[in-house]
Amino acid sequence: MSAELLSNINDRYHMALHFHRESADLFWFLSLQGYATLHEFQLLEEGETQRKIKRYIFDIYGVPIVDNVATGTSLFSLLTQGQKRHELTSDVCWNAIKRAWEAYETWELETLQEYERIAHELFSQGDIVTFNFVSDIIKDVGEEVRNISNELSRLKTMDFDLPQIIGEQEDIRERYLKKMKEIYD
Ligand SMILES: [Fe+2]
Repeated sequence: MSAELLSNINDRYHMALHFHRESADLFWFLSLQGYATLHEFQLLEEGETQRKIKRYIFDIYGVPIVDNVATGTSLFSLLTQGQKRHELTSDVCWNAIKRAWEAYETWELETLQEYERIAHELFSQGDIVTFNFVSDIIKDVGEEVRNISNELSRLKTMDFDLPQIIGEQEDIRERYLKKMKEIYD
């Protein structure tokens, strides 16, 4: 039972990886390299966590859980509307940035809720060791949610001002490139 609960988290990680990959594509396409690097960092970090979950399932429970690799709908196609980069108007860009950030917040909030539900079940079953393992994952997701909510509030207060957003990209990219390097330190 605990292995199945962990398997649900593992499958959601695959959806998360898909989400971050698509978001990175979208922001590279929009030439917003800072946001693209943010999602590439999350892709890397959550890829590591997915492997950690899978190793845990095999080492602790020894059951042959197979990954359910989701692809889902394409955020990238939806927001770029099949247009080439040079055809994008500032309205399309503005709308894509806003919707991508809102989708990001919704995704992570739902993820947090789902993992909390699973942690609660593990605790009820008395599987405290795995409950603690999932609690660590929840802490990471909680921190991601906090960062997104802060950034989204900030973006809303400036009504997603494009020149300001473009001007901030280099600093954001530097910050996330540094965080990427730290993963392997
Ligand atoms: Fe994430």
